[in-house]
Amino acid sequence: MARTVKDIVDMKKNGKKISVLTSYDYALASLCDKAGVDILLVGDSAGMVVLGYENTLPVTMEQMEIFVGAVSRAKQNALIVGDLPFMSYQASITDAIANSGRLIKAGADTVKLEGGQTVADTVSAIVETGIPVMGHIGFQPQTTALSQGYKVQGRTADGAIRLIEDAKALEEAGAFSIALEMVSNEVAKIISETISIPTIGIGSGVHCDGQVLVVHDILGLYEKLKPKFVKQYLSLSDEVVKAVSNYKKDVEDGKFPAEENWFSMEEGEYEKLKEKI
Ligand code: KIV
Repeated sequence: MARTVKDIVDMKKNGKKISVLTSYDYALASLCDKAGVDILLVGDSAGMVVLGYENTLPVTMEQMEIFVGAVSRAKQNALIVGDLPFMSYQASITDAIANSGRLIKAGADTVKLEGGQTVADTVSAIVETGIPVMGHIGFQPQTTALSQGYKVQGRTADGAIRLIEDAKALEEAGAFSIALEMVSNEVAKIISETISIPTIGIGSGVHCDGQVLVVHDILGLYEKLKPKFVKQYLSLSDEVVKAVSNYKKDVEDGKFPAEENWFSMEEGEYEKLKEKI
């Protein structure tokens, strides 16, 4: 049975950790779903790891709809969260509702947007339309990256209080969970113990109710950034380079294709053809 938002919220109540991975395409999403992750997050990180942008800012709604559609066709059990890209919800609540609707129509079960107290009204307006929302505080790639660069959040008492207030505001606005990105371990613990909805950490320590990582990072497929918080389970880029070099060599040496890889004419037809030409 496919996970629902209620299942995810209940996991926190039952003390069960929530596993989340990003997904952007049919093939990898099918494998992540088969492996049993609870949530497939179609993150705007697609802009970097799939589309090759320097950051997530250029990502458009049209691109996110394509990624969400591909992942939704792969999904059997996981809940799908679709990320609202930069400027798809900031200008007005009307935009936010319309663009959330577009991601749901593309196949997402819920949406995610960045921001705390400043987006609380937007979150409650989207939730009122019936669309579940995951919040995202701490380091926010769509804005923090512009003003501060990559920086751990909540290392000072004042910064921590702002984050705790942000988390409470999102819970009050009706968010069903909150991603905490690069929040200090201590502050992530306080937030996770203070609010009743699940916290999903990325670089935010062990006390979060769940964890999310970019799938390309755990598989060792994206070599441009290697954040300290990532645990790499495979070195797929090395494997891919090895496989592709072997393929190139086989082509050059005439070893590929071999008989099992080609198709033959029907029996006797080749001789007939030769007579005719
Ligand atoms: O876009 C993304 O991948 C995210 C994360 C929380 C990893 O927002």
